[in-house]
Amino acid sequence: MSDEVERHYAAPSRIDSLLANLDAMAPAGELKIADLAPLDQFHAGGLEATRQLATLAGLSAGQQVLDVGSGVGGPARFLAETYGCSVTGIDLAADYCRLAEVLTARVGLEGKATFRPANALDLPFADGTFDAVWTQHAAMNIADRPGLYREMHRVLRPGGVVALYDAVAGNGAPLFPVPWARDSSTSFLLAPDDLRDVLQQAGFTVIAWRDVSEDAKRWFANRPRSALPGLGLHLLMGSDFPSMAANFGRSVMEGRVGLLMAVARKDHA
Ligand SMILES: C[S@@+](CC[C@H](N)C(=O)[O-])C[C@H]1O[C@@H](n2cnc3c(N)ncnc32)[C@H](O)[C@@H]1O
Repeated sequence: MSDEVERHYAAPSRIDSLLANLDAMAPAGELKIADLAPLDQFHAGGLEATRQLATLAGLSAGQQVLDVGSGVGGPARFLAETYGCSVTGIDLAADYCRLAEVLTARVGLEGKATFRPANALDLPFADGTFDAVWTQHAAMNIADRPGLYREMHRVLRPGGVVALYDAVAGNGAPLFPVPWARDSSTSFLLAPDDLRDVLQQAGFTVIAWRDVSEDAKRWFANRPRSALPGLGLHLLMGSDFPSMAANFGRSVMEGRVGLLMAVARKDHA
């Protein structure tokens, strides 16, 4: 299953070609993290959704944050730069971690956000390592949600929070292919109430719960244009990415898929 998910997201040849052309597409120097958003904020709502989740999570400077399913690192760089957090990203796709490190150096955030390949179901960290766990649009690929949230709970210190932003099940199946899956074999959406139950069973106390489906509908209806021509998620996902994104948008518009942000706290070890 994890091999299939990794193959869905990352093709080494696409990452190699992106890296070879990066100077032309995203010249170093005056490059800001926001310039990379069309490529590195891989979720509905883009950078604005990351800002919204960070506000909900109430992060502060110096906190140790783990980004689970960190993609090519846009959210991690945002948290490092904007909040002064020290962010560790893990992702199944080693090629995404490789690109994430290059992009991080390009915006001068080396060492403040770091990335390593790992499976969210087997986090390579000791109990109680992090002040916050952050995750956006990765749980949709993970069937074992009890196992996922137990792992997140384990690596948090008591009092730490998980901040999540995910697609949830609505009134029907998503229209495949969507950005996270070509078909139903790697797509595991939970209904909001079931998600809340699984979080609570893992030991979390839910402290914020926000249905952001309407925000996502507005974003899909009026997606911002890339400031750097040519930079976009098709570079990671291939030429059929526009149809995946369109299907995601239609699935949200039709209520088949919802979008949810939540923050939940680990009260006890
Ligand atoms: C849609 S992307 C989102 C990336 C990033 N969170 C963002 O919002 O920009 C989903 C990411 O989750 C990762 N992922 C999926 N299942 C995973 C797992 N079991 N362990 C670690 N990463 C996983 C994928 O490799 C992919 O990079």
